[in-house]
Amino acid sequence: MSHLIATCSPEAASTALTELQQRSLPITLATWLDTGVALLSTPDPQALADELTAHPPVFVRHLAPADLVMPLSGHVDDIAALTVAVRDALPDLMSELMTSSAKPYAVQVRLSRQAAHPYTRYAVAEPLRTLLASYGPEDVRHPQHILSVYCATAQAYIGLWPAARCLSDWAGGEYHFARTAEQVSRAEFKLLESLEVWKLALPGQGDALDLGAAPGGWTRILAQAGLSVVAVDPADLDGRVLRLPLVQHWRGYAEAYIASSTTMFDVLVNDMRMDARHSARLMVQAATRLRPGGLAIMTLKLPQPRGAAVYRQAQQVLAQAYTVIGARQLFHNRSEVTVVLRRETGGIR
Ligand SMILES: C[S@@+](CC[C@H](N)C(=O)[O-])C[C@H]1O[C@@H](n2cnc3c(N)ncnc32)[C@H](O)[C@@H]1O
Repeated sequence: MSHLIATCSPEAASTALTELQQRSLPITLATWLDTGVALLSTPDPQALADELTAHPPVFVRHLAPADLVMPLSGHVDDIAALTVAVRDALPDLMSELMTSSAKPYAVQVRLSRQAAHPYTRYAVAEPLRTLLASYGPEDVRHPQHILSVYCATAQAYIGLWPAARCLSDWAGGEYHFARTAEQVSRAEFKLLESLEVWKLALPGQGDALDLGAAPGGWTRILAQAGLSVVAVDPADLDGRVLRLPLVQHWRGYAEAYIASSTTMFDVLVNDMRMDARHSARLMVQAATRLRPGGLAIMTLKLPQPRGAAVYRQAQQVLAQAYTVIGARQLFHNRSEVTVVLRRETGGIR
C-alpha cells in the first residue's frame, strides 16, 4: 500500500472520509496527522488523485503526495536531514520537470499542529527552494508542480505532483487573502476564494442580484467589478456599501423579492443563512430572473451531522434549473458548501 494526504475542514472529517471511500479505488485511513489532515493508504495514489481531479469531491479540499517517508527527531537537525533526503530523491522526484521545459513549481511545507516542532515551515522550505532553484522558476501562486512536505510528529511525508492533481494550488487548500480597509465582512473571502478556485471572472458590466446581502461584502465585490447590484436583505447594509453608486438596497426577504421582481440579471449570488434545501428552491425560482448562461454562486448551509445528505438533496433541487460547475467546502466556508452554477439555456426542468 502507498500513501497520500487528504485535507478537509475538521468538522467534515468523517463526511470527507466517507466521500473518498465511495470511490472505485480502495482507500483506508492510516491515521489523522492533524485535525482535518488524513494519511490515507491506497494501492495507487496517483490513480486515485487523477480520479478525484476528474470528478472532484465536495468535502476534500486538497491532496498531497507522500511518496517519501523520513523520520523526524523533533530537533532543528530535521531541517538539514530533510534537505539531504529531498536532494537525494530529487532526480526521481523531479524526473518530469527535468525532461520538460522549465515549469514553474512551488515548495509547500506544512507542520502538524499536534507536533511542537522547534522550527517554522519557512525554515524548512528555504533550503528546499535553494535546491530546486536550478530546475526553473518558482511561482507560488500559479505553480504547475508542487513539492509537498508534511511534517507530522515523528515522520515527514514528501512528494512532488503536478499542481492539478492536488485539487488546489495552495498548501492544504488554504487560500489566504489580505484584509483591506474597504472590506466589510469576512464573508467576502468566500466569494474571492470561489473565484480563485474555479478560475472565474466576474463580468465587468451588467446586473447582479445578491440574496442575503447584508452587511454587503459580496455586494461590494460585485460593484467593484463594475456590476450594478440589487442587494436583497431585511438587515442593514454597511454605510460604505450603501453609498456606492452601483448599489441599490432592497430591504426585505428574498422570497418576496423573487415573487415580485421582473428584472433580468447577469449574475446571481446567494449567501443567505437558511436551510440549504429552501435556499436551493429559491435559487430555482430566481433562475427565471437570470439570463441564460448566467453565473450563479451560492453557499448551502449544512447541519451537523447530516450535512452530506442535505447537500445531496439541495443539489438535486438546483439541477432543475442549473448546471453545477463546481461544489466544494472551501477553506473560508464553515458549516457550508459553496456551489457555482450556470443557468441552463433550455429552461427549467
Ligand atoms: C452570512 S450573511 C451574508 C453576508 C454577505 N454575503 C456579506 O458578504 O456581507 C447572511 C444574510 O442572510 C440574510 N437572510 C437570511 N434569510 C433571508 C431571507 N429569507 N431573505 C433575505 N436575506 C436573508 C440575513 O439577514 C443575513 O444578513
